[in-house]
Amino acid sequence: MSRKTRRWILHFFLCLGILYLKIGGLSSVVALGASIICNKIPGLAPRQRTICQSRPDAIIVIGEGVQTGISECQFQFRYGRWNCSALGERTVFGKELKVGSKEAAFTYAIIAAGVAHAVTAACTQGSLSGCGCDKEKQGFYNQEEGWKWGGCSADIHYGLGFSKVFVDAREIKQNARTLMNLHNNEVGRKVLEKGMHLECKCHGVSGSCTTKTCWTTLPKFRQLGYILKDKYNQAIHVEPVRASRNKRPTFLKIKKPHSYRKPLDTELVYIEKSPNYCEADPLTGSTGTQGRLCNKTAQQPNSCDLMCCGRGYNTHQYSRVWQCNCKFLWCCYVKCNTCSERTELYTCK
Ligand SMILES: *[C@@H]1O[C@H](CO)[C@@H](O)[C@H](O)[C@H]1NC(C)=O
Ligand SMILES: *[C@@H]1O[C@H](CO)[C@@H](O)[C@H](O)[C@H]1NC(C)=O
Repeated sequence: MSRKTRRWILHFFLCLGILYLKIGGLSSVVALGASIICNKIPGLAPRQRTICQSRPDAIIVIGEGVQTGISECQFQFRYGRWNCSALGERTVFGKELKVGSKEAAFTYAIIAAGVAHAVTAACTQGSLSGCGCDKEKQGFYNQEEGWKWGGCSADIHYGLGFSKVFVDAREIKQNARTLMNLHNNEVGRKVLEKGMHLECKCHGVSGSCTTKTCWTTLPKFRQLGYILKDKYNQAIHVEPVRASRNKRPTFLKIKKPHSYRKPLDTELVYIEKSPNYCEADPLTGSTGTQGRLCNKTAQQPNSCDLMCCGRGYNTHQYSRVWQCNCKFLWCCYVKCNTCSERTELYTCK
């Protein structure tokens, strides 16, 4: 067995481990067939189950993509009252917010981007069947700038297409929230597509650039997180426009009197105002801020005043211990003192 194969198999089992945590209660997932696994994954729409059964290798990559999206969401909102968690039933896509808020908009966009990113990366690494590097430009010259397409260009169109087919397949209802979700999924994918960039390498004696090859590569996911966070801050309130015949919502328009503009595919949209996320509420999915860490001295937005919604906070004292005043002694020891400091942590009541 080659090292690569072995690493891949290890990876495969690790990923199943992740899936296992999500599925819960299944003890020997590995020994089960795809159809059983796909039936046990909570919150898949029927079409997603079909995709899962025909592409069990992809479902693992999808799971990773969703997790990447959720982790990024938790990072971006670590100081917020809403910290990217929600009350309710666990699904492959995490716990979902019931209110069609800005926060829901952000999670849909970042997860759609996460899945497209993970699938594209897996294609580039050769760990997903049915895709690989983008061969379209392979070998062509860029005359103006004097370089050649080479290496492995990421096949972003495959990843975007996969995300569209799989992630969008959960939108089976015909309501305003569905329109909102589909719009925000597309915003996430557009942000990823726009973030694709060139990476180049010089070839020649001692770093001279006699020939240069370039390929397209995926952006860092963190960067997408910041861009989507900006879009979240400028998210747009929209409302559905209903068809005159069957009264079904058919598209979204900006919610302002005398405005007939449709939102752009660069704008996150929401249909409902956000709750304040102060108290736990199963109806909105808010987990509340009780027990959250806050900062007594900071101003925005994780100050104890804001985070605890005026309920006050508990103070926890502890001592922090670390090695200090380290000296290098000839030869060859490092001698340190132990320092300690009393610090305080604050959590919301
Ligand atoms: C978010 O806040 C809730 C409620 O305080 C807490 O239970 C949860 O662990 C937090 N999640 C993260 C990722 O910090
Ligand atoms: C609290 O905020 C202040 C000012 O922004 C910062 O210097 C300090 O490190 C923060 N403390 C903690 C525990 O995060």
